[in-house]
Amino acid sequence: MQTIDTIESVREQRAQWREQGMTVGLVPTMGCLHEGHRALIRDCVYRADKTVVSIFVNPAQFGPGEDYEAYPRNMEHDKNDCAQEGVDIVFSPQVRQMYPPDFSTWVVEETLSRGLCGAFRPGHFKGVATVVTKLFNVVQPDLTVFGKKDAQQALIVQRLIRDLNFGIRFVLGETVRAEDGLALSCRNEYLTPAQRTRATSIYRGLTEAKSLFRQGERNSAELKRVVTEAIQANAGRVEYVEVNDRQHLHAVEQIDAPAVMAVAAYFGNTRLIDNVFLEP
Ligand code: PAF
Repeated sequence: MQTIDTIESVREQRAQWREQGMTVGLVPTMGCLHEGHRALIRDCVYRADKTVVSIFVNPAQFGPGEDYEAYPRNMEHDKNDCAQEGVDIVFSPQVRQMYPPDFSTWVVEETLSRGLCGAFRPGHFKGVATVVTKLFNVVQPDLTVFGKKDAQQALIVQRLIRDLNFGIRFVLGETVRAEDGLALSCRNEYLTPAQRTRATSIYRGLTEAKSLFRQGERNSAELKRVVTEAIQANAGRVEYVEVNDRQHLHAVEQIDAPAVMAVAAYFGNTRLIDNVFLEP
């Protein structure tokens, strides 16, 4: 496995692989790899001849007062995980390479980015769409794998690929959960043991809502109430609980098309997100 920190070297390797007729997959990450990332990486290694994992904590997607500085970084551990999964290149550029001081071109998705996390983290998806576009341009992958846990991000990237004609195959990887149901996330590291236990109420609430949905409940307000109450009963602060259609990410009152029920909630100062898909 090679670790590369310059755009030029990745391009050179990519060109060689193209000459050899190899397919290339990209898994973009911000490091702090856990089993959720490893599952995406494994999927990519299985599907593509060569796999590139980018590790870049992207300052452009963090708002003022968010955890950019504090975001957990552990390159040695991450490289070790990548090597074990059979990754070919870890691409870890410096911020100044990705964003030279006079950087002034941004990619903005204007519809799917509006609600859910986009409403509470202004500029976040502009930062994501821009860095993902740059990574696509540098690595020029044939396919890319994103996780379902960040459902809004995944839908935005899918739209970006279509709208900007990247011609990259998009693969959505399942959310990986701890035994108690909590979706794996780097931010789980910030939780105290008591908060960690209470945070399992997010998935318990979502599971209960999904089971009501399976029993025929189609009213969003009722499902949202169940999730909100589960979280609040465990001292969580709900930022949003929404049921949106998966085509446009518009909030729906009655669920009669594929939908996503998405949650953002705080336990202490830690903001966690999760979701389930609802298929009528
Ligand atoms: O999901 C993430 O870790 C990031 O948003 C991504 C896709 C790597 C872009 O920085």
